[in-house]
Amino acid sequence: MDVLSNNNKRNLPIGFCDSGVGGLSVFAKFKQIMPNENTIYYGDLKNVPYGSKSSEEITGYLKKILDFFEAKNVKAAVLACNTTSAVAYEKLKDNYNFKIYPIIQSSAKIIAGLNVEKLGVFATSATIKSGVYEKEINKYNSNIKVYLKACPGWVEIVEDKTFEKEESIVLVKKYFDEMMQNKPDKIILGCTHYPFLIGMLSKYTNIGIFIDPAIYFAEFIKQDLIIKELNNLSKKEGEEEFYVSANPEQFKISGELFYHIKNNPILL
Ligand code: DGL
Repeated sequence: MDVLSNNNKRNLPIGFCDSGVGGLSVFAKFKQIMPNENTIYYGDLKNVPYGSKSSEEITGYLKKILDFFEAKNVKAAVLACNTTSAVAYEKLKDNYNFKIYPIIQSSAKIIAGLNVEKLGVFATSATIKSGVYEKEINKYNSNIKVYLKACPGWVEIVEDKTFEKEESIVLVKKYFDEMMQNKPDKIILGCTHYPFLIGMLSKYTNIGIFIDPAIYFAEFIKQDLIIKELNNLSKKEGEEEFYVSANPEQFKISGELFYHIKNNPILL
C-alpha cells in the first residue's frame, strides 16, 4: 500500500469489524455521511459474544480480522466494537500499514465535552474490566463521575433477535434498574449491539438519556480521512462486501434492523 499515491489509496475500501451485527450500528451511521466510500464488513459470528472471553482470545480474533483486511488492501480499519477497542487495540495497532480507528478512544473526547456530571456506561464484561472507558473519559474531563455496568446476555438478545422473550425483558430491566440507582445524567451504550435494544429500553425511560457513540465515531472517521486526504472523491455510491465466520442467514436477518444488506454475506 505504501507505494500507492494518496490519489490511488482514496479508492481502497475501509474495513469494519465486530463480533456480529452490532458493528452495523456504526456502519449505518458512517454510510449515511460517507455513502461513496467502498466498504468491507466482517462479522465474527463464530466467536460471538466477545465480551465474555479472555483478552488473549479477543486479541487473537481481532488479529485474524485485521490480517484479512490487510489481504484485502484496505486503507483503514474501523473497530466498530467496544470490546476489541478496549482489550486488543493497543496490542495490535502498530502492526499494520493502515490506520485503525477504535470506537472508544475515537469518541471519548467528544463525549467528555458534553454537559454531563454523572455518566453511566453499559458495556460487555471485558470492556468494563479493561477500565478503558473511565480512563478515556477522565483523560479529557476528570470532573465526570463514571458509573460502569456490565450487561452479560444483552449481545445474545440482539444476535438471536429474542426481544419479545420474557427472560430478555427481565435481563434488560435488571441491568437498567441497577444502573439507575446511580442517577446518571446520561448513559453510554458502550457496546455496538446495544442500540438495537433501544426499543426495549425506551419502555422505562426517555431515550434522550442514552448516548450512542456511533454518531461521534462516524464523524471522527470522516474528518480524519479528509485531513489525511484519504476520503474517496468519487460521486458514485460505494461498493459493499459483507463477510461472516458463521451463520450468514442469521446475520442478514438480525442486521436488517440497522442496515439493509443487499448482497448475501460471504461465509469465510
Ligand atoms: N459489539 C461488540 C462491542 O461493542 C462486541 C460484543 C460481544 O461480542 O460481546 O463490544
